[in-house]
Amino acid sequence: MCGIFGLITNQDIEIGKIILEGIKRLEYRGYDSCGIVAQHNSKLYVKKDAGKINEIHKRLKLDEFPFGTKLGLAHTRWATHGPPTKINSHPHLDCNEKIAVLHNGILENFFELKEELERKGHIFRSETDTEIFPHLIEEYMKTGIDFKFAVSEAMKRCKGAYGLAICHAEYPDQIIVVRKESPLVIGLEEGKTTYCASDIPAFLPYTRECYILDDNEMAVLAAGYVDFYDIDNLTNPKEKEKQIIQWSIDAAEKGGYKHFMLKEIYEEPSAMRRTLKISKETLQIFARILWGAKNIYITAAGTSYYACLAGKFIITKFLHKYIEAIECSEFQTQLGDALQEDSVIIAVSQSGETVDTIEAIRWAKEKLKNNVKILCITNVVGSSLTRYSDYVIVTQAGPEIGVAATKTYCTQVLTLALIGLEIAKFRKILTKEEIDNYYHALNSTPDIIETFLQENIDLIKDIVKNLDKSHNFFYLARGISIATAREGGLKLKEVACRFIEGYSAAHAKHGPISLVREGFPIIFIAPPDETYERLLGNVMEFKARGGMIISVVVEDDRLITGFSHRTIRIPQPSDKYFSLFSPITFIPALQLLSYYAALKNGLDPDQPLNLAKTVTVH
Ligand code: M6R
Repeated sequence: MCGIFGLITNQDIEIGKIILEGIKRLEYRGYDSCGIVAQHNSKLYVKKDAGKINEIHKRLKLDEFPFGTKLGLAHTRWATHGPPTKINSHPHLDCNEKIAVLHNGILENFFELKEELERKGHIFRSETDTEIFPHLIEEYMKTGIDFKFAVSEAMKRCKGAYGLAICHAEYPDQIIVVRKESPLVIGLEEGKTTYCASDIPAFLPYTRECYILDDNEMAVLAAGYVDFYDIDNLTNPKEKEKQIIQWSIDAAEKGGYKHFMLKEIYEEPSAMRRTLKISKETLQIFARILWGAKNIYITAAGTSYYACLAGKFIITKFLHKYIEAIECSEFQTQLGDALQEDSVIIAVSQSGETVDTIEAIRWAKEKLKNNVKILCITNVVGSSLTRYSDYVIVTQAGPEIGVAATKTYCTQVLTLALIGLEIAKFRKILTKEEIDNYYHALNSTPDIIETFLQENIDLIKDIVKNLDKSHNFFYLARGISIATAREGGLKLKEVACRFIEGYSAAHAKHGPISLVREGFPIIFIAPPDETYERLLGNVMEFKARGGMIISVVVEDDRLITGFSHRTIRIPQPSDKYFSLFSPITFIPALQLLSYYAALKNGLDPDQPLNLAKTVTVH
C-alpha cells in the first residue's frame, strides 16, 4: 500500500510544511520512495526520489513550494510495479506534464492499456502501472471533454484497486480523487481548506470533519468545499454523511516517545479501557448469532489472525461449538464447496483494508448468495471490510501508526473475550460468581499491563542485552498460549529481523527440538492454566539439551521459575480466571522484547524492512 495526502486552500498557510508533515504521518503505509507536486501559475512542480521522506527532504527540500501555491499533493510509496527508484516514484505525469496522478493500489489491466496508449503515441517514462492513469486521462481530454469527465471516462477502462489523487496544471481550483477498493478520506475546514488522504491521521491536526469515500465514488475538492459523485454520474452531486472524528491529535503523533511502536505499547491500557466500554447490545447480537450458527469460521491475517486463535479459544470455552480459524488468504482454497449456507464468519482486521480478508468475505457472500452472516471486528470506522459485513464492532484502540500491530492485538482479543463472556451469560453455563470472576479478571487486564510496563523495562532491556548474539529462538507454549507464542514470534521476526519459531511446546518435540544446542534461547509462555504441569515437563526436556530458558510467568510462580535462567513476571494472580486472558496480559512482554531487540540491532521498529502496515495487494 501507499500513502496519499494533499490539500487545496484559499488561506495564506504554510502549505509546503503542512503537506510534508501530513505525508510523514502516512509513512507507515510505505517508505521506499516519496514525491510531491505543487500546482501554481498553470504549471506543475514535482520533486520526488527513492528513499525515506526525511532523507529525500534533506536533499530536495520537499516543503519549499513556489510562493503563493494553494494546491499540493504528496505520496509515499510501497513498490509493487517497478523497483523503488526516482523515476518510479509518484507523482506520474502525462506527456505534456499537465496532469499529475498519485496512486495507492494496483491497476490490473495495465499491460493492455499501456500497449493501446503507446500505439496512440504516448511515451512512458516509468515501469509503474500508475503512469497509465495520467496518459489515459490526457487521451480523453484530447476529445475536448472537461477534466472531471475525462477522469470518469478513464476510470471506466481501469480494472483493479485504486485510490487516486489527481491535479491538473490548468485547473487551479480542483483536486479530483477517486476510490475503488483503496481507502480515501476527505477532511474539511469549511470555507478554507479541503484535504484528501489515505488515512485520517494525516489531517487530524487541522480538522475532525471527515468524509469517507466509497467504492466507485469521485470527490471534487475545492478550497473549503467538496462535491461527491458516483463515478458514472457526474451530473448530480450526491449527499454524503459527515463523520466527526473523536481521536485526540496526540494519538497520531509520537508524543515524546522515540517510536510509535513504544508509544502504542504504552497506550494499551487506555485502548483496552475504551474497548471495555463497547456497547453491550452489539456484543449480545454477536453472541446470539454465534449461538444460532451451524458452522463458524474466523479469519484474518498476521497479528489479527493470532488474535483470532486466542479469541476462538476463549469463545469455544463458553460456546461449546467448534470454530474453525482459517488464514484469510487460504479461506477460499481451504473451504471451497465445503462452505455451507447459514454459516457465520468472523472477520478481524485492524485496518479493515487487508485485501485477502476482504476477498475471503466477498467470495463467501457471493458463493452463498448472501446466505451467510459476516461479523466484523475492525479498528477503522467505515473501512472497506465494514461495508461487506452484516454487523460491525469497532475496537477502540485509536490510530495505530507503527507497522507492527501492538495495542490493536490486545483490543481484538479483548473484544473476542467480551463476546465469549456474553455467550456464557445467556447460556447460563456458569454460576454468577464464576461470571463475576471472569469479568473481574478481564476488567483488570489494563491495570495489569500498566503495572507491568511501569516495573519491567530494565529487566527486558537486560534480557535483550544477553540475547544479542542469538539469531534463532523458540517461543514455546501450550493451549491458549500458543497464540501468544506465535504473535510474539511474529513481532520479533518483523521488527528485530531475528528468526524465531512460535510453536506448540508439545509439538516441538516432533522435530524442532533437534535444533537445540548449548545456550539456544527458548522462551516459554507459562500462565498457570491446565497446561502448566505438562509445560513444566517440556521446560525440563529443553533445558536438559542445553537450552537457555527464559520464562514468562505470573507473579508468584515457583516451579517453572526454578528451572529458568531468566524470568519475566506478569503481575497477575495465579488463577484460572486470569489465565484465560493471558494472551492479553502476557503479550506486552514479548512486544517490548522485540522492540528493544530491534533497537539493539540498529533497526527502526516503526519501519521494518520490506513491510507496509496494510497489505492491499494479493
Ligand atoms: O489490518 P489487518 O489487521 O488486517 O492487518 C493484518 C496483518 O497485515 C498485520 O497484522 C501484520 O501482520 C502486522 N504487520 C503485524 O504486526
